[in-house]
Amino acid sequence: MASPSETNIITLFLVLLTTASGTEAYYSPKLLNQIQKINEAGPYLGLVVPNKFEMDPLLQSSVFIADEDIPFTDLSGRRFRIGTVMDHRVIVVMTGLGMINAAVTTQLLLGFFHIYGVIHYGTAGSAKQGLHIGDVTVARQWAHTGLWNWQKYGRGENDELSWEESGDYTREIGYLKFNNYSTPPGENIDNLLNNLWYQPDEIFPVNGAPDVCEHVFWIPASESYYQLAEKITITLDLGQKSTRDL
Ligand SMILES: *[C@@H]1O[C@H](CO)[C@@H](O)[C@H](O)[C@H]1NC(C)=O
Repeated sequence: MASPSETNIITLFLVLLTTASGTEAYYSPKLLNQIQKINEAGPYLGLVVPNKFEMDPLLQSSVFIADEDIPFTDLSGRRFRIGTVMDHRVIVVMTGLGMINAAVTTQLLLGFFHIYGVIHYGTAGSAKQGLHIGDVTVARQWAHTGLWNWQKYGRGENDELSWEESGDYTREIGYLKFNNYSTPPGENIDNLLNNLWYQPDEIFPVNGAPDVCEHVFWIPASESYYQLAEKITITLDLGQKSTRDL
């Protein structure tokens, strides 16, 4: 006979199993059939947006017209909204904050839907002098700065990083020196956190050999979209709350 604690464990295990089988419904034949119908009316431009407060002004504006047959489909916790923006067929999707959300949502978009381009927009802070609230910037290239090599205390920029020799890590990009941000500033102040070296991301190109990674730090924006963006002039009316997020 099982003791009370064993019974609890068995019950918990069964609950987990039930939940796991429930997730299969995400890619049900009904859903895949609906996605196929959406794709038959494509291809689409994907609009990828981090937050509701950045997405809602677009959805509520007269520029976005939702599709009459299938206005949206839900997939893996995301709502993919189908419609047009100035006669271009678009799919608008909100990612949630953070790199993992951005990556997962964009992968879902590209994997399930027929997409010919992606535009990512949202609000951002800036460390650059001369940029002000309401300025619109278009990135020519971007970097993911989430992969680091933390250098041991006592070592400096002339010392090899661990695993550098095997080609996994590099000192080419630059580093953050914690000591430089001590307060009050002073050359004699030491910081045990030492140095943090930025690393390129490991990427697996769709056309590359599976499981063979490339190292990339700066990722260029599409040159044709960039040139197009340079020609766009936007007038912001900061007196209106809804235009603040453009
Ligand atoms: C640290 O500060 C010094 C003095 O301002 C500067 O020359 C150096 O580039 C800084 N190093 C890093 C890695 O931030």
